[in-house]
Amino acid sequence: MTTPLDSDSILVFPSVDELVQAATDYVLDVADQAIQERGRFLLALSGGSTPRRLHQSLIEAAGRRNVDWSKWQFFQGDERVVPSTDERSNFHMAEESLLSKIPVDQSQIHRVPTELGDPEKVADAYEQELRSFFGDTGMPQFDLILLGMGSDGHTASLFPRTPKLHESQRLLIATPPGVLPPPVDRVTFTFPVINAARHVVFLATGGDKQAAFDAVRHRTPLPGSPEVPSAMVRPADGELRWFVDQAVAGGES
Ligand code: 6PG
Repeated sequence: MTTPLDSDSILVFPSVDELVQAATDYVLDVADQAIQERGRFLLALSGGSTPRRLHQSLIEAAGRRNVDWSKWQFFQGDERVVPSTDERSNFHMAEESLLSKIPVDQSQIHRVPTELGDPEKVADAYEQELRSFFGDTGMPQFDLILLGMGSDGHTASLFPRTPKLHESQRLLIATPPGVLPPPVDRVTFTFPVINAARHVVFLATGGDKQAAFDAVRHRTPLPGSPEVPSAMVRPADGELRWFVDQAVAGGES
């Protein structure tokens, strides 16, 4: 049973613009620190639609913050098992809104190989990619994992009532479609990977997510979601930050 979120983890903004600006500064600060300390910044991107605004803001900020994109390594926290050119693909969204607009080469981009077709094979292949990148020693540690949350409390592609929510050995699992669209098979980081990160950032906006956020914040039940996956994100040693707007926060600060 996870404890309620502590208030330090929650940042409430009056507008999406202010939320995006603050999240941009946070990501770039973490990147600066990672590059300074370890010579690189290991980032896992989120899917859905919310990240588009952050991606655009990162590009705009890059000039004034002198971002060295060559030190960034881009991964995906989850993916829909569709072609990477498909409008439903999280990679397609990331490529269109960020990766195609910044000076990075293919060696810096670790795309989920959905062309393999079978979700289990896709999960296995991406797990191998992570293990070969991080070295086969223990749990990969990302500098920052970006996440969103659905109105049902899911995050990445970890959906309520998914039998594998408590997977403790694998880095990636294949999951069937959740209740929210698109109804396609997915592959997703497991909680051990997410909770090993140095920083985990949720971006959530819109009143449709208020009930789910209440469930995360106060450990209140969420109809239809006996376990709220987003509430299970508790980095062991890393920093958790929820960037939410007032609609999600339901008027609470
Ligand atoms: C996905 C995402 C998912 C997303 C949430 C929020 O593949 O759909 O990884 O976890 O972050 O559903 O999506 P929005 O940002 O579109 O609200």
